[in-house]
Amino acid sequence: METFQQGKYGSWALITGATSGIGRELARQLAANHMHIVAVGRRQARLDELAIELKAQFGVTVLSVPADLRDPLAIQAIVSSTEGLDIGLVILNAGAELTGSFVHADETAHLQLVQLNAVAPMQLAHYYGGRLAARGRGGLMFVSSLFAYQGVPYVAHYAATKAYLLSLGEALHVELKPYGVDVLVLSPGLTNTEMTANMALDFSKLPLIPQQPQQVAVAGLQALGKKATVVSGFLNKVMAWENRLLPRSTPVSLLGFLLKRALKGEIRSEGRVA
Ligand SMILES: NC(=O)c1ccc[n+]([C@@H]2O[C@H](COP(=O)([O-])OP(=O)(O)OC[C@H]3O[C@@H](n4cnc5c(N)ncnc54)[C@H](OP(=O)(O)O)[C@@H]3O)[C@@H](O)[C@H]2O)c1
Repeated sequence: METFQQGKYGSWALITGATSGIGRELARQLAANHMHIVAVGRRQARLDELAIELKAQFGVTVLSVPADLRDPLAIQAIVSSTEGLDIGLVILNAGAELTGSFVHADETAHLQLVQLNAVAPMQLAHYYGGRLAARGRGGLMFVSSLFAYQGVPYVAHYAATKAYLLSLGEALHVELKPYGVDVLVLSPGLTNTEMTANMALDFSKLPLIPQQPQQVAVAGLQALGKKATVVSGFLNKVMAWENRLLPRSTPVSLLGFLLKRALKGEIRSEGRVA
């Protein structure tokens, strides 16, 4: 990837959610650019596989940090394991979805979602943003979503957590620029990963063209250092952009209609997440 300024981002990248999907692909592409990886995720076996693969293919080191980011103590464990490493790039990618009726989902599920999708990335951005600013250069990437660009009924809280990251990241892009830190919010549209494979939505009923994690990772790494935000994929860009031309309520209502139609049967009939 000729446009990726590896020198600027040092020799170590930290990636949350590196065990599958977009995070795993980001790890592969950075390793191909000779970066060592601090890989965070819950599944130890996947972290081990990643370490073996990236060592064999690219000769880089993977430091595995098994951690559940729904646990507030996980942040300290990540921080401790990276003391002494010259981390130049931090990618806050780990996330999960919660599909169905907002009020019928368990409150605990909502609290865990906001901890994983919003609180943990904020805490990691606070700590590593400070470290990168002190270092005088580096990169910080938030993985948000096309769903951040408007409220989305039936994935209401997921979309709200992604809007939080979009707002936080685009503001930090300006705040951290004088310190030489590039901040980017990468917003994927529908992408073929474990998350979407397990979602209670029939995506064939939505006007979305899926991308592969590899395409999303390229879009993010190419935009880093050039922009504050990037939406991956042409059609997704159009969808995010057209919102600016419409009354705010219009895309929300339209998505409400489309998402309700796409909910898988058992959730639609019970009105709650199974
Ligand atoms: N796929 C899409 O269509 C799409 C669209 C827009 C945005 N996104 C965003 O892209 C990001 C990556 O998702 P993906 O699509 O690549 O899905 P994925 O393949 O399911 O990957 C999710 C990653 O997050 C990690 N993770 C989940 N819960 C965690 C927890 N409690 N603690 C620590 N790590 C956790 C997973 O690792 P472990 O399971 O090993 O913990 C995994 O590595 C997410 O933030 C998602 O919201 C995805």
